[in-house]
Amino acid sequence: MTARLAAKGIVKRFGGVTALDDVSLALDQGTVLGLIGPNGSGKTTLLNVLSGTMRPTSGGVFLDGQRIDRLPGYRVVRAGVAKTHQIPKPFPGLTVRENVLVAATFGGRAPMREGADLPEQVERILRLVELEPRAHAFASALTVQEKKRLEFGRALATGARFLLLDETFAGLSPDEVRNSVEVFQRVQAEVGFGAVVVEHVMRAVLSLAQRVLVLEEGRAIAEGTPQEVVRDPGVIEAYLGSEATNVAP
Ligand SMILES: Nc1ncnc2c1ncn2[C@@H]1O[C@H](COP(=O)(O)OP(=O)(O)OP(=O)(O)O)[C@@H](O)[C@H]1O
Ligand SMILES: [Mg+2]
Repeated sequence: MTARLAAKGIVKRFGGVTALDDVSLALDQGTVLGLIGPNGSGKTTLLNVLSGTMRPTSGGVFLDGQRIDRLPGYRVVRAGVAKTHQIPKPFPGLTVRENVLVAATFGGRAPMREGADLPEQVERILRLVELEPRAHAFASALTVQEKKRLEFGRALATGARFLLLDETFAGLSPDEVRNSVEVFQRVQAEVGFGAVVVEHVMRAVLSLAQRVLVLEEGRAIAEGTPQEVVRDPGVIEAYLGSEATNVAP
């Protein structure tokens, strides 16, 4: 059966700030949902709620119909949902290989380990994210792009069925974005995870996602295919502006 991740009626308040106001979404394993919106619109907060890092004020998160928003974060990872950080957070004093090994060991789900021992699994991840040549480098010595690859690799190493990726293409040159999009697509085709991809780089999100959800000030203002969303007058007004003419697929 295809796994399904869903959020229903999510509200998240920080004191007087309503970061998320009745946001719902659903995606199946194997599909990519793009999440876009202006700065401060609630994208990272929504990923935090989906990953169990933050509890919603109200509403629920469901994996295969089971409620997961009351579970501690590590149990959510074991259930099969893993998040990358907007600012990569590897263990700086460990090597690339060791960082992936830690994620595979402590975040791992049994199915990822089936038929492969841990070292084999780690080598597979390093190959998938193209970090084999840097396996012995300390995480602190990596470039921005390599750190983002490592962050992706660590999430993959948990064996997650759903990955929540927060701006994995931010701060990269256009060539690096193209290359990272190719890596993402290849890995997704091989591993078959579902993903929520938060991204300001519109070309990247439009080429990766089958559907896109647009947030503005904590509210979902549009949801649809990339083609539908970039033509939506409300989305152009709130977020895309004149850029929209450059990004229409
Ligand atoms: N831990 C927190 N405490 C208080 N307010 C917070 C907290 N986290 C987020 N907020 C507020 O919630 C709102 C949404 O923030 P969030 O970081 O989710 O936005 P974002 O869409 O990810 O923005 P960006 O594109 O800049 O990363 C903002 O008003 C922010 O200031
Ligand atoms: Mg954010």
